Amino acid sequence: MNEINNNSPIGVFDSGVGGLTALKELFRLLPDENTIYLGDTARVPYGIRSPETVTRYSFENVRFLASKGIKLLVVACNTASSVSLEAIRKSVSVPVIGVIEPGASEAVKSTRNKKIGVIGTEATIRSSAYKKAIEAIDGSAQVFGFSCPLFVPLVEEGWIEGEIAMMIAEKYLRKVKEKGVDTLVLGCTHYPLLKKVIAEVMGSDIRLIDSAVEATKRTAGTLKKDGIERRVKERPSREFYVTDSPERFIMVGERFLQQKIERIEKIEL
Ligand code: DGL
Repeated sequence: MNEINNNSPIGVFDSGVGGLTALKELFRLLPDENTIYLGDTARVPYGIRSPETVTRYSFENVRFLASKGIKLLVVACNTASSVSLEAIRKSVSVPVIGVIEPGASEAVKSTRNKKIGVIGTEATIRSSAYKKAIEAIDGSAQVFGFSCPLFVPLVEEGWIEGEIAMMIAEKYLRKVKEKGVDTLVLGCTHYPLLKKVIAEVMGSDIRLIDSAVEATKRTAGTLKKDGIERRVKERPSREFYVTDSPERFIMVGERFLQQKIERIEKIEL
């Protein structure tokens, strides 16, 4: 096992390519940090699986990243954060940042009428993780959760704008609008890519919360608080690992990240 120090990488995992929305945010806010991203592309999607299966997959991802000597772990996947975060925290000795609590806390700050919508995968919504996290901060908030299963394949296909994206968004979000929410949490890695369409359907008065952005701020805060920021100014290393062939990951991933993916390897977990 590598020795952990300030120069050690931040580990990020997701069920696939979606967590790159969080990684992109991390590159923006913490450009000097070394990172290792693991996308479990062979077993994506997690959002339709049982909590037991998601937790088993998460443990395998964490074991791999821990073996690389990471100094902090970001669980970019909303589904894994929803169902496995506590178990993951108990299994590693480094700080673990999930996306649920940071997103929930920003939603509570944002809402005026205390009606908050949450959209995510079936597993995330079924777990009520966002609802519980929001209610733990403000017991008087009303939370309305809806799953939007077609959003993930839509984004994977690159159909993030246009007629089809608009039609699907209108169909899913009608129910959310009817609840009169003034804040909507984008509780899935892929949804920030549909922000434009979602904003258009929801209307300009509705505040959209990107959990990945909030989790990245939390990451920056934790590095600082624990005194484990990287202090070296040389170009950071940015490694990628996937569990299926890298070609599709590179193609979709470079679109997500809007930059080249240079160091990538396929691994067996
Ligand atoms: N990464 C997942 C999430 O944020 C979406 C894709 C999947 O279902 O695995 O919930």
